[in-house]
Amino acid sequence: MERKAFKDRIIYQIYPLSFCDSNNDGYGDLKGIISKLDYLKNLGIGIIWLSPIYKSPLKDNGYDISDYYDINPLLGTMSDFDELLKEAEKRDIKIVMDLVINHTSDQHYWFQEALKDKNSKYRNYYYFKEGKGKKPPNNWNAAFSGSCWEKVPNEENMYYLHLFTKEQPDLNYHNEEVINEVKNILKFYLDKGVYGFRCDVINEIYKTSLDDGKFRFFSRGKEHYENQDGCFEVLTRLRKEALDHYDTFLVGETSSIVPDMGQKFIDTRALDTFFEFDHAFCASNKFIPIFKKKFKPKYLIKPIFKWQNAVSWIGAYLENHDQLRSVSRFGDEGKYYKESAKALGLFLLSLKGTIFIYQGEELGMLNYKDLTFEESDDCMAKSVVNTATHILPITKKFAFKLVNETVNRDHARAPMQWDDSINGGFNNGAKTWLKVNSDYKNINAKEELNDPDSTFNFYKKAIAFRNNNDCFKDGEFIPLKSNSNIAKFIRKTAEESYLCVINLSKKEIKDKDIDENKQIVLSTHKKHQKNILKPYEGLIYKL
Ligand code: GLC
Repeated sequence: MERKAFKDRIIYQIYPLSFCDSNNDGYGDLKGIISKLDYLKNLGIGIIWLSPIYKSPLKDNGYDISDYYDINPLLGTMSDFDELLKEAEKRDIKIVMDLVINHTSDQHYWFQEALKDKNSKYRNYYYFKEGKGKKPPNNWNAAFSGSCWEKVPNEENMYYLHLFTKEQPDLNYHNEEVINEVKNILKFYLDKGVYGFRCDVINEIYKTSLDDGKFRFFSRGKEHYENQDGCFEVLTRLRKEALDHYDTFLVGETSSIVPDMGQKFIDTRALDTFFEFDHAFCASNKFIPIFKKKFKPKYLIKPIFKWQNAVSWIGAYLENHDQLRSVSRFGDEGKYYKESAKALGLFLLSLKGTIFIYQGEELGMLNYKDLTFEESDDCMAKSVVNTATHILPITKKFAFKLVNETVNRDHARAPMQWDDSINGGFNNGAKTWLKVNSDYKNINAKEELNDPDSTFNFYKKAIAFRNNNDCFKDGEFIPLKSNSNIAKFIRKTAEESYLCVINLSKKEIKDKDIDENKQIVLSTHKKHQKNILKPYEGLIYKL
C-alpha cells in the first residue's frame, strides 16, 4: 500500500494574518503566502496547514467563521486560494485547512436567522435554552472565562451556548442537518484539492446533555461534552460518508486528552492523529495557568516521551498559534540562544509521528519583550486579564504581566520576520494589525538564509535528513534513562538504528555515550568533546 503523505512529510503551520502582507494593508494574505512557497520548499516542507482563512469578523482571528464558502477579504479571494493550491501543487506541497466546526461566528447566516426567528429551522443548528429562574441553563464555564451562556437579545429568559467567546455559538451535532452541512463543506474543499483538515477543538463538538457539571474551576461541564461517544460517531460518519472518497488526513486538536481516548480516535478512524497538551502546559502552574512555574527540561521531556509510545501515531509539535514561543519557554533567550533553538529543533525533528513546525520556529523567533495590554490583540489574554482583576486583588498591569509570561497568544502571532527592513519585511511599512517584534533586525529569514550556521539552516539540514530517512519517519522510539536534562532515545527499524542525545539545559553534562569517533549524522555543534555534552548540545549517532 502507498504510504500516507502525512506519515512522510513535515507540516508547517501558517497563521495567515501574520505570514506575509503582499498588498501592504497591515494584514498577511494569500498572495503573500504564494510568494513564500519557494522559501518553504527550500526548507523541506511537504504540507502546509493554514489557520482559518474563511470569512470572519475576526473576534477570535478566524476561529469564528461567518461563511465557510468564502475567503476573508483581508486575506484575498477564492481565486487567490485556487492559485495557492495550484502553486503549492506545482512544488509538491499539500494544503491542510483548519476546520472550525464546534462553533460558527455569531455573524454566520445560520445564527443570524436563528436569532431573528424562533421558529426558524436554524434555531436547532445551535443550542438555545431557557434559563433556570434568573440563572443561565447550567453552570458550565466558557474556555476564556465566564459563563458559556449568553442571553438572547429581546427574548425573555432565553440563552444560547458558547464554549468559547459569546461571538462563537456552538453548533448542535444532534441535528442531522448540521452534519450534512459539514459534509458539504468538506466536499467543497476536498474537490478543490485540499489534502486534509486540522480539526479545531474537535473532542468537544458533541454535547451529550446540558446538565450541570461537577464543580471545577476550569472547563466546568466538560464531562458532558468532552470525548463523548457521539463525537466519535459523528466523526466516523464524516469519514465514511465524505472523506473516504479522497486521500485525506485529519488531525484533531484534542484538549486534555488521555492516551486511551487518543488511541480511540485513531482506531475508530475518527482522526488520523491528534495533538496532546501535556507538554504545552508544562511551564505553568497546573491549577492557575497564569502563574509561571520555573522551567526544568524534564517537564518537557517526560510528557513528550510518554506520548511517543502511548498511541500509535502522534502529532508532534512544540509551537502553534496558541502557545508562547518555544525558545522563550523551554530554551534560552540569552547566551545560548542559537544553541537552544537548534537543540529544540533537533528534539522535535527526531521524534516519531507527524512533525508540525509553526511559522518562525525555524528562525528561532522569540516572545515579545515589551507588549502592553493596549497593544495586545488576543481575546483570550484580554478576557483572562479582566477576570483575574475581578477575582484577585491585582492591577490590570500586573495581571497582564502574568498572562503575558504564560498564556498570551500574541507572542506566536507577531508578524513573521523576513528581513531587517521596516516591519521586518512583513510588508512595506503600513501599520501592522499586531506589532512587529522589536528583535527583527537580529532575527529574520534573510539573515539566516545567508548564514550557514543559522537556526534556519540547521532546521533545513535536519528536515532533509528526516525526509530521506525511514527510520526517523516511523521507526520505533526507545526512551533511554539519562540525566534529567537530557533527552536520550533510540530510533530503530529492522534495518538501522540511531542514538539521539540532546542536552536541553545550560549545564555542561557528562555522558559516556558522547564520542567523536562514532558516526555522527546530525549535530547542533561543530566540535564535540568525548564524554561531555555542552550546553544545549544535541547529536544523532548512527549505531
Ligand atoms: C482552538 C484554536 C484557538 C481558538 C479556539 C476556539 O483552541 O486553536 O486559537 O481560539 O480553538 O476556536
